Amino acid sequence: MMTISDEIRYIGVADRQIDLFESQYRVPEGMMYNSYVILDEKIAVMDTVDGHFTEQWLANLAAALSGRTPDYLVVHHVEPDHSASILAFAERYPDAVIVASAQAFRLIAAFYVTDFAQRRLVVTQGTELALGTHTLTFYTAPMVHWPEVVMSYDSADKVLFSADAFGKFGALDVEEDWACEARRYYIGIVGKYGAQVQSVLKKAAGLDIQTICPLHGPILTENLGYYLNLYNIWSSYGVETDGIAIFYTSVYGNTKKAAELLADKLKAKGCPKVSVADLAREDMAEAVEDAFRYGKLVIASTTYNADVFPFMRTFLEHLVERGYKKRTIGVIENGSWAPMAAKTMKAILEPCKDLKFTNASVKIMSAMNDENKQQIEAMANELCEEYEARNNETANKNDLTALFNIGYGLYVVTSNDGKKDNGCIVNTVSQLTSQPNRVAVCINKQNYTHHVVKSTGIMNVNCLSIEAPFKVFENFGFQSGRNVDKFANCSPMRSDNGLVFLPHYINSFMSLKVEDYIDLGTHGMFICSVTEARVINRIETMTYTYYQKNVKPKPATEGKKGWVCKVCGYVYEGDELPEDFICPLCKHGAADFEPIK
Ligand code: FEO
Repeated sequence: MMTISDEIRYIGVADRQIDLFESQYRVPEGMMYNSYVILDEKIAVMDTVDGHFTEQWLANLAAALSGRTPDYLVVHHVEPDHSASILAFAERYPDAVIVASAQAFRLIAAFYVTDFAQRRLVVTQGTELALGTHTLTFYTAPMVHWPEVVMSYDSADKVLFSADAFGKFGALDVEEDWACEARRYYIGIVGKYGAQVQSVLKKAAGLDIQTICPLHGPILTENLGYYLNLYNIWSSYGVETDGIAIFYTSVYGNTKKAAELLADKLKAKGCPKVSVADLAREDMAEAVEDAFRYGKLVIASTTYNADVFPFMRTFLEHLVERGYKKRTIGVIENGSWAPMAAKTMKAILEPCKDLKFTNASVKIMSAMNDENKQQIEAMANELCEEYEARNNETANKNDLTALFNIGYGLYVVTSNDGKKDNGCIVNTVSQLTSQPNRVAVCINKQNYTHHVVKSTGIMNVNCLSIEAPFKVFENFGFQSGRNVDKFANCSPMRSDNGLVFLPHYINSFMSLKVEDYIDLGTHGMFICSVTEARVINRIETMTYTYYQKNVKPKPATEGKKGWVCKVCGYVYEGDELPEDFICPLCKHGAADFEPIK
């Protein structure tokens, strides 16, 4: 008999007859129904087993008891694979008290007619059950994997009785990787309830656990951080393995060829792991767990009955049902006369959160042609961009667009030339030091503000908040203070240095005094001390990224060929953009333009 500790014995059974667990999951290596007994001054039996093994389990229990009588039967989970022997136990040991949550007793009554009203102990979060040396503390774990579930922790031997959590398919006598079958079990059975598992993991985080006793699979005793980490990844829908999983359905092999060509290209471009599965032949639960395992997914399917091929529909519905999210997806469709697969697949995935579809897509009309091969190449490039960039051999080491990823806020710098107030949009403001406070502001020499600040030595930096509308950028960014009065239509307010600050659309401002100046060629950098600093409200600061995504109007590029200004959306129509071109609206140069796609 397996021993968990001096006083905790294993009394579970192996099911080698079962073909489908829960009547749906293939279990070629069988299934364990684990049960334990704690032999203290009081004796607690931890769960029962599937009804096909009641007699074997009762014999295991009797052997462990050596003539003693159990005081408690703890029911962590009422699903019949663990509770089907409750009545037999209750009959054999009429003085034993049944211990479970209130919800569990309702389910026990529904399954087994009695709710043991005369001999039961209802536990909830934090309930303690003293057995002598051992004390069990209960933790509610709703939806892991039914609503009534509790786990219990024995502080004497530091054992967590984890119910279905940390279980796996397969009997104990099989030598196999824990993660593979534990992942298939978790994603298939508990996958939808990530938030609830996260909540249980938080409860368990404060416990000193040395052994995990689940209701299925092996008892976990070493390197528990490994198992906890995987559960954390799975339940937070994180990426476990860096790589790409391709799933296809193919009637005559043409979609399969496209999937295989893509797989070859992905491997050639350095994708660390590429997995390819034919959904008509792969175990569906295996396919579903793989989709959750990797961060990127490619779905390739034929059109069928003006829909998508049935195996693909089933696969995607499994993903949706389990809350699939936070993934990048490439779509390959095939259709001989009216391709519908891509549209249908995207529609099925609509309820999933945070999915990003690749820009590249592949549309095959029966068999792959040269254009399809180019589309596959483009998809492979897009999916492998990060792998190529990480690799010293394949990376573009002179990609100056990296500089665009430096985070910037957006500010209005206000100044006064002695005659009128002025302001301009600036994005390069940084605090350099805190003792003393030094702030750097970089301003284009062509801006009138540069000239004014250089002469007066003072400015106000107004921090725009995300409430600032586009008209603020038009007013302060797309025209020059040399020609217009940018404060003509507003009633500005003044700080102690006499300069204006914006009455609206800012969350704070700082009055700066220039201490130093660095000539940077096209720009000048003012190194300043802070003479006044005010917080106006707590609204978030407008970043350059926020402006690009949410404030700047979408440029009217439809049907046009040419270039578009990334700052203001001005459209330049023509094949070539002159190198010295200056945007007539915002005055930014050619480097800030991109081709119209
Ligand atoms: Fe192992 Fe949810 O029953």
